[in-house]
Amino acid sequence: MTEHDPTAYGKGVSADYDAFYAQLPETDEAIACLAELAGGGDVLELGIGTGRLALGLVERGPHVAGIEGSDAMVDQLRTKPLGQTIPVVVGDFAETSVDGTFSLVVLALNTIFALADRDAQLACFANAAAHLEPGGAFVVEAFVLRPDQVAGGWSVNPRMVEDEHVELEVSKYDAARGRIDRTLVHLLPHGNKIVKVVDVYASPGELDLMAHAAGLRLRERWAGWTRTPYVTESTKHVSVYEKPA
Ligand SMILES: C[S@@+](CC[C@H](N)C(=O)[O-])C[C@H]1O[C@@H](n2cnc3c(N)ncnc32)[C@H](O)[C@@H]1O
Repeated sequence: MTEHDPTAYGKGVSADYDAFYAQLPETDEAIACLAELAGGGDVLELGIGTGRLALGLVERGPHVAGIEGSDAMVDQLRTKPLGQTIPVVVGDFAETSVDGTFSLVVLALNTIFALADRDAQLACFANAAAHLEPGGAFVVEAFVLRPDQVAGGWSVNPRMVEDEHVELEVSKYDAARGRIDRTLVHLLPHGNKIVKVVDVYASPGELDLMAHAAGLRLRERWAGWTRTPYVTESTKHVSVYEKPA
């Protein structure tokens, strides 16, 4: 595996994460969908971060545990009353174990692409499968490359346009290496913030193969958390992989 620093994202973003992303579109819908998929069982979130999804899930009843690479993100989670009750193991979710098995494992917001290479992504699917009960599901939310990104060169995409926060994503896809360099430019009233991210992109079909290698099979694929159909033009997917009963 290529070296990857799972603490890096949190070091740059933890203090601002909630201000930037707590109100992401579809957050409530994601929580409702995940609660339904959990069916009253326990949930494990890989890359639990500051608890954007986990806290809402706990409020709905499921027991939630997390694996998180960044102490700084966990510190933010711990500032919230319910966040102190969620067991979190700090480590790389491609290889870190927690006690117990779960009816649902979730990896949201493109974070499968944060892993350093295909070996790490394969290991992550295997790790998710190892934490699932038979009949349980591993849910992966990820973007799909836009045609302008596939075409190559730099492309600019407004990710968020609010009164006091505009986020522009400046990205370049290197098809030969399967990498996307993304620079996230946050325009804020008190100044700008720049966050650099390198993604190892995998198409939905490639993710399906990783799932297959881990003994999981695709049960559902939607274009979002409201379960709209996934079609050619979809810009993201929510994929539900099942561990055979
Ligand atoms: C984009 S944030 C998403 C946080 C949360 N799941 C949410 O939906 O708001 C990705 C999170 O995954 C964590 N992360 C990235 N790579 C990781 C790894 N290899 N192992 C564990 N955590 C990782 C980051 O520190 C960050 O907290």
